[in-house]
Amino acid sequence: MSDELKSSRRAFLKGGAAATAGIAAAGAAGAAEGPDPLITELQDWASLTGDGVDATPYGLPIEFESDVIRRNVEWLTADTISSINFTPIHALDGTITPQGCAFERHHSGAIELAKEDYRLMINGLVDTPLVFTYADLERFPRENHVYFCECAANTGMEWAGAQLNGAQFTHGMIHNMEYTGVPLRTLLAEAGLPAETAGKWVYVEGADASSNGRSIPMEKALDDVLVAFKANGEALRKEHGYPVRLVVPGWEGNMWVKWLRRVEVMDGPVESREETSKYTDTLEDGTSRKWTWAMDAKSVVTSPSPQAPITHGPGPLVITGLAWSGNGAITRVDVSTDGGMNWTQARLAQPGQKMALSRFYLEIDWDGSEMLLQSRAMDDTGYVQPTKEQLREVRGLNSIYHNNCIQTWWVRETGEAENVEVS
Ligand code: MTE
Ligand code: CO
Repeated sequence: MSDELKSSRRAFLKGGAAATAGIAAAGAAGAAEGPDPLITELQDWASLTGDGVDATPYGLPIEFESDVIRRNVEWLTADTISSINFTPIHALDGTITPQGCAFERHHSGAIELAKEDYRLMINGLVDTPLVFTYADLERFPRENHVYFCECAANTGMEWAGAQLNGAQFTHGMIHNMEYTGVPLRTLLAEAGLPAETAGKWVYVEGADASSNGRSIPMEKALDDVLVAFKANGEALRKEHGYPVRLVVPGWEGNMWVKWLRRVEVMDGPVESREETSKYTDTLEDGTSRKWTWAMDAKSVVTSPSPQAPITHGPGPLVITGLAWSGNGAITRVDVSTDGGMNWTQARLAQPGQKMALSRFYLEIDWDGSEMLLQSRAMDDTGYVQPTKEQLREVRGLNSIYHNNCIQTWWVRETGEAENVEVS
């Protein structure tokens, strides 16, 4: 072992001892001195048998993890009909979101639609209008892709000032799953497209009462859009659009139509509610940006963060978070501990994947002083995530949607963290 490694190992052990003393003082563990009964005494789990294999035919997380759940912000959830909840990103690691705790957004409640009752119509400017059953869809060649789905309203409450206290609430309208489905282009080809597809659009709608209709330019429809029926290997949950939803990689979550029932090929966009009065951004001069489909590069430190405070003393600290871009792959994430004055390049757990979450880590030797913690994402188009100030300069204060600014957590000496703004 090199001297350098030895000394860092000693520093680590010292940090560990300090943390144990801290816990003992809080009364959560036994005496800091003397033998540890967890080591010296025979425990129930080692002397009795555990549960049999049939106890949980379909499993839930162990009870100790019962706080890793979706949560609401009360004033954002009017009722169970138009509702939103948030992924506990502060408590997850890696990049894949388990369906069981992935955020949900419904405009008219989650409907129950059996596979036998499922129909998908393709009509409009096609050679032969077609209706597919679920069983029909299963007979086309499938693909698997990991993509993030981010609601355009994610971080929308933070425009005017730091508001919600937790990464789950500021950035939790996002999930990242492995989707299995049939490319939309395959189904469009089956129906027969016009010889000239340039300038054509598809209008997609769901089977729920809101229908959530959206226009998508044909270029995107023929590129990477998926008609998906599995997520993370299993059927979509009812709330995510069972049995079939649209996956529109990199583009705002609202376009990911759930309970997909119809795709109409058209000469132009419909200008539906969801793409005019909603999901557009009103600027300072009163005009609005529209067709802002791709979700620009963004990142957030998930730990430490307000719901994931530091629970140990000075010494080794793992800073981690998520980064993503609707325009491509994440190439780099920088982390600042002083509110953006100095930046250190973080480590990407894996090379960035297009339109999928990236996990980053920065291991530091925390000196126990307070930090203004930020992360800044870059993607393979060269785009750099803006500060809140830079974003406001361009977009003003009237926006709700498409807020991809740099987030700041004020981490105190105690390890507790709070949502703040720096200027
Ligand atoms: N599709 C239908 N049919 N109805 C809806 O209410 N909500 C949209 C979109 N697709 C919606 C829909 C919105 S705003 C978002 S952000 C995503 O679905 C959320 O998908 P999720 O509930 O699987 O997280
Ligand atoms: Co949404």
